[in-house]
Amino acid sequence: MATDLSLPPTDATADWVIPQNWASYSPREHHVWDQLYARQSAMLKGRASAPFLKGMDSLRLSRGGIPDFEDLSERLHKLTGWQVVAVPGLVPDAVFFEHLANRRFVAGRFIRKPEQLDYLEEPDVFHDVFGHVPLLSDPVFADYMQAYGLGGLRALNFHSLEKLARLYWYTVEFGLIRESGGLRLYGAGIVSSFGESVFALDDPSPNRLQFDLERVMRTRYQIDDYQQGYFVIDSFEELLHQTAEADFAPLYCRLEDLPDIAPDAIIDTDRVINRGTQAHARSRNPSC
Ligand code: PHE
Ligand code: FE
Repeated sequence: MATDLSLPPTDATADWVIPQNWASYSPREHHVWDQLYARQSAMLKGRASAPFLKGMDSLRLSRGGIPDFEDLSERLHKLTGWQVVAVPGLVPDAVFFEHLANRRFVAGRFIRKPEQLDYLEEPDVFHDVFGHVPLLSDPVFADYMQAYGLGGLRALNFHSLEKLARLYWYTVEFGLIRESGGLRLYGAGIVSSFGESVFALDDPSPNRLQFDLERVMRTRYQIDDYQQGYFVIDSFEELLHQTAEADFAPLYCRLEDLPDIAPDAIIDTDRVINRGTQAHARSRNPSC
């Protein structure tokens, strides 16, 4: 679906926010949410990071049906000052960053069809809300997301968006974290995916590498299959410290002269947690 990103749609304001129209979801649509919810919440016990599981609880995501953003925002705002607002789909980068910088998370309002439970190309309300919102109730992660928005506005001036987007991809969407019991999931793209929430943690295929800011910003990513490599952080405090407290301007300059790294590569300076077999990627592309 092509989206015209030059102008907001007619029922939106200049910030692209539209009403969620919660009352107009059909019982069938609420049922899709409930099915996805039941499947993922069972899957995530012992797999998702403790702050994510705690967020699901404190936001009462288990009450059934697609959450009403107003309700959800009220709870979330009390915890960390964040809100959830609906947008029609993709929004321009500057609009996205501006919302994050003001502690507003933009979410799609449509839900996938019953035959798309396992895979969907565009993020829907299940990915956006179930995947992203629980961690926004964690004070440190909440600060990271806001700092990322401010960093995005800044990166626009440096024309370094591609590099900064990789940081989002390998943390907010596909990040792993080390907890006392072992590795856990926190990336929204993983926790909202039935298949990847097992693959990312248990499959021998992907590399699992210690997070390193510059390394991550050099690493290309794949959008149409499970990741070939995941990056592991020690804590949200450490992530926030390494990013929010650093000046990215000199980093962006340095990165211009450094080659990109392939999604499945391991380089000399990596701290390797698991060296992946890449069997999954090979099975998808037997000619390589
Ligand atoms: N500190 C970064 C900068 O100078 C901004 C940033 C913060 C980026 C947090 C990502 C996450 O641009
Ligand atoms: Fe997402």
